[in-house]
Amino acid sequence: MCGIVGYIGGRTALPFLVDGLKRLEYRGYDSAGIATVGESGLELVRAKGKLHNLKEKLNGAAHSTGTVGIGHTRWATHGKPEEHNAHPHTDASGRLAVIQNGIIENYAELRLHLKERGCLFKSETDTEVIPHLIACHLAGHSLLEAVLAAVGKLKGAFAIAVVSADFPDELIVVRQQAPLVIGFGEGENYFASDVPAIVSHTTRVLTLQDGECARLTRDEVQIHDFSGARLRRTPRSLNWNPSLVEKRGFRHFMLKEIHEQPGVIRDTLEDRIGDATGPIRLGLSSDLFADLERIYIIACGTSWHASLVGKYLIEELAGIPTEVNYASEFRYCPPPLNLRTLVIGVSQSGETGDTNAALTAAKARGVRLLGITNRPESSLGALVGELIDTRAGMEIGVAATKTFTAQLVAFYLLALHLAHLRGTRSGERIREILVGLQQLPAQIEGILDTQERYITELAREFDATRDFIFIGRGLNYPIALEGALKLKEISYIHAEGYPAGEMKHGPIALLDSEVPVVAVAVPGKVYEKTLSNAQEAKARDARLIGVAPLDEPAAVETFDQILPVPVVDEILSPILTVVPLQLLAYHIAARRGLDVDQPRNLAKSVTVE
Ligand code: M6R
Repeated sequence: MCGIVGYIGGRTALPFLVDGLKRLEYRGYDSAGIATVGESGLELVRAKGKLHNLKEKLNGAAHSTGTVGIGHTRWATHGKPEEHNAHPHTDASGRLAVIQNGIIENYAELRLHLKERGCLFKSETDTEVIPHLIACHLAGHSLLEAVLAAVGKLKGAFAIAVVSADFPDELIVVRQQAPLVIGFGEGENYFASDVPAIVSHTTRVLTLQDGECARLTRDEVQIHDFSGARLRRTPRSLNWNPSLVEKRGFRHFMLKEIHEQPGVIRDTLEDRIGDATGPIRLGLSSDLFADLERIYIIACGTSWHASLVGKYLIEELAGIPTEVNYASEFRYCPPPLNLRTLVIGVSQSGETGDTNAALTAAKARGVRLLGITNRPESSLGALVGELIDTRAGMEIGVAATKTFTAQLVAFYLLALHLAHLRGTRSGERIREILVGLQQLPAQIEGILDTQERYITELAREFDATRDFIFIGRGLNYPIALEGALKLKEISYIHAEGYPAGEMKHGPIALLDSEVPVVAVAVPGKVYEKTLSNAQEAKARDARLIGVAPLDEPAAVETFDQILPVPVVDEILSPILTVVPLQLLAYHIAARRGLDVDQPRNLAKSVTVE
C-alpha cells in the first residue's frame, strides 16, 4: 500500500527520493517523508497529505546534502493521516530512522514491552516499534545484526528500510510478504517498492524474496536470509520502457491508459494465436489441465469483474464448472478443493495481499495454480507455478483500465485453449472468435476517436447527480459492475451495478427522474430482455443511457442517449462495451475537478489483508 524508496551513492540523495516518491505516489498519498544521512547527521522531513506538501517543506528548508536516504509515501493503516504518524520514524536518539510498508500485527504487545523499558512513542503507528527495537539491539552489533534481531520479533507482512547516522555508509532493507526491488547502479544503489521509482536510473534489478534482507553500500549489495547467512542472487535486466511511467501529453494517467488499450490488446495477442488456425500458444504445461474437474478464480475489485467474464467464457466454451471468489473471502471460507482443481489468481499488481494470501492457502492444499497478471515479476508471479502475462505493462492510474481489458483477452485465450484441448468447440468456432479478437483494437480506436468529445459534453449533465445505476445481463453484467466501480471510485458518486433482470426484484424502488440508468445492451441472447429491463426503468422516469449499437432501431427507440459500440459477436462484446463506461467515469470525475489518478482513500496496490 505504501511506497518506499531509498538511495546510497555519491550524489545528494534528495532528488532521487523525491522523484521516486512521485512515481510511487499511486501506492498511497496520506503523508510523505524522507530521512537522509550526511555530515550533519540524520535529517528528517515529513508532511501530512500529498507529496507536494513535503516538496513545499523541503523547498523552504536548507537542502539536505546527505548521500544516503530513504523516503515513504503512506496509505494509513494504524494512526490517522497526520504528520506525527508520517514515516520515517526514529528511535529515542533521533539518529536511526525506519520506513515500513505493511502491517506489524503484534505491534501492540511490542509497544507495551518497549514502554515498560522506558521508550517514548510519538505516533500511533505500528511502525514506530521498529526503530526502538533496533536500538535495543545495537550495542556491540552491526546495523544488519541489530535489524535482524528486531525483525525476529515482528509478526506480519512488511518491507522495511533502515538508515542510521552511526552507520553512514550503508542502508538495510528487509522483505517479508511486501514487495521490494533493489536497483544496481555504478557507484550507487537503490531500492523501491516498485520499479517505476528506479527504472529511469537502472534496469539491472533484483526482487528481494520473503525472508531476505539486503545491506546496500555505494559499491555493493549483500543479500542475507533472516539468520544472517549470505545468499547468492543475480540481478536481472528489466525489459522496461521508462515512457510507460510518463503521461505523454495526457491530462491524467487514467486517460492515457484508456487510450493504450488497443496497443495492449495487440501485445496480449501477439505471437499467441498466429494465423488463428493452430493451437493457442500460452506457454503453459499440459499437466495444468489434465483431468481437470473444476476451476476456482480468486481476485479482488476490477480483477474480480474480469474473472466473472472469465468464468462465463470457460464454462461456455470449455464446459468446465468455474467459480469466482473474492480473495478476501476465499482464504477464510475455502470451498472443498481436490487435486483435480485448478485455482487461478488474477491481479494487475500481483501484490494484492488478499489474493496472494488466498493463493498461498490454496497452494498449501496441493491444488494446481495459475496466475494472470501484467506483473510476472511480482509476488503473485513467484507464488504460482504457471502464469499468463497479460503484457499490459505498468498501470499508474489507481482505477484499473488497460489491465482489465488485457485480463479479459487473457481469459479469451485461456478459454479457447481449453476448448481446443477438450474438443468442446469446433476449430471453425475457435477461429471465428480469434479473428474477432484481432479486430477489437481497431474497433476500440474507433470508439476512442468518435466518442471522447461527446462523452466530455455528456459528463456536464451529471454535475449534481448523486446516484447512478448500471445494468447488464449475461457476460455484460460484469461490465455493468465495472462501470459502476469506475464511476464510484474516481467521481465519489454512488453507483451500483445490477443484473438487469434483477432490478424488478427490489432495486427498481430506487429509481426516479434523478437516477440515471446506464444499460449495456448489445445484440445477442439477452438483447431484447435487457431492452425490456431498460424500458421498465424508463417507465419509472429514469433517464436512460445505452451502451448499444447506434443503428439498431430498438436501441434508438429505448435510450435517451446512446454511447455507440460496433456490433460484434456477442461473446466478444465486453471488451468493447467497457470502453465508453471508462470514458464516462473519467470525464465525470475530471469535470468535477477530482484527482482522477489518486482518488481519496484508495491505493493502487493493496498489500494489506
Ligand atoms: O492489483 P489487483 O488487480 O489485484 O487489484 C485488485 C483491486 O484492488 C483493484 O482492481 C481495485 O478495485 C481498483 N482500484 C479498481 O479500479
